[in-house]
Amino acid sequence: MPINLRGRSFLTLKDFTTGEIQYLLDLSVSLKEKKRMGIRGNTLAGKSIALIFEKPSTRTRCAFTVACVDEGGHPEFLGKNDIQLGHKESVKDTAKVLGRMFDGIQFRGFKQSVVEDLALYSGVPVWNGLTDQYHPTQILADFLTIQENFGKLKGLRLVYVGDGRNNMANSLMIGSAKMGIHFAIAAPGDLFPEKDLVEECRVIASDTGATIEFFEDPRKAVSKADAIYTDVWASMGEEDKLAERMALLKPYQVNSDLLKATGNADCIFLHCLPAVKGNEVTEEVFESRNSKVFDEAENRLHTIKAIMVSTIGDL
Ligand code: CP
Ligand code: NVA
Repeated sequence: MPINLRGRSFLTLKDFTTGEIQYLLDLSVSLKEKKRMGIRGNTLAGKSIALIFEKPSTRTRCAFTVACVDEGGHPEFLGKNDIQLGHKESVKDTAKVLGRMFDGIQFRGFKQSVVEDLALYSGVPVWNGLTDQYHPTQILADFLTIQENFGKLKGLRLVYVGDGRNNMANSLMIGSAKMGIHFAIAAPGDLFPEKDLVEECRVIASDTGATIEFFEDPRKAVSKADAIYTDVWASMGEEDKLAERMALLKPYQVNSDLLKATGNADCIFLHCLPAVKGNEVTEEVFESRNSKVFDEAENRLHTIKAIMVSTIGDL
């Protein structure tokens, strides 16, 4: 059966099959080639999208905006102080109003339940541009970058080092389980992900051949890694926890010693960005030949375009 994602929301990768995720990656590859050749598309001509941001953003906002314009659509930025959502109007009513005017809605904010309610009540596709729980659009860019470097995803070893229970760790675990990637988290035990999510991912992994492991010792975790991933130690909304996290996560800094401990000179380094250099990663690793962080940032554009084109575009 040909894959058709028209009308679908993109709230968490749990909702997508291995084949659907691969389809989005393949579409991203062709949209990236098209962009490199300077060819503009018109799959979003006549479409308008709402971009709701409760939290700040560089990459996600710019990727949605540029991707939409590249394909002939109109993006409307709605910052947290620009709209009534959460102040004078309920999520349900806001969703119903926006759904009458827009063809798709991107939401970045705190609660996963808000992005889910927007999808439930708007009647149009809703894309999760990051919540406290998940960051699924980021994973497509990460996996495209891994695929560009290794020519495949299945069977590779991806090790996430740092805050093992944040939106990135959760989403990388789900995505890896879906795509047959051997995934490990190196974190202090207090920062391991929720047991229920781990169990859910292990069920998915049993179908794809993926494995999911947890380590408190970062050097053991990264042994034979193909890719090391890290993220900030205090996510947006957790700034008050930074001092506590810095003390807890100091041994989990991705530095050249940890990169060497992989035993793999071609191990790549990934980070969703923005990065706090000197905390979760050293300047040396960030700027090393192993670092693919700017390819990864660019890939936000092509993968987000693939999500919009496949869910609301005239393909
Ligand atoms: N990686 C990412 O989501 O970046 P922004 O916060 O800049 O959107
Ligand atoms: N975990 C980070 C990701 C930023 C893209 C945060 O939520 O702030």
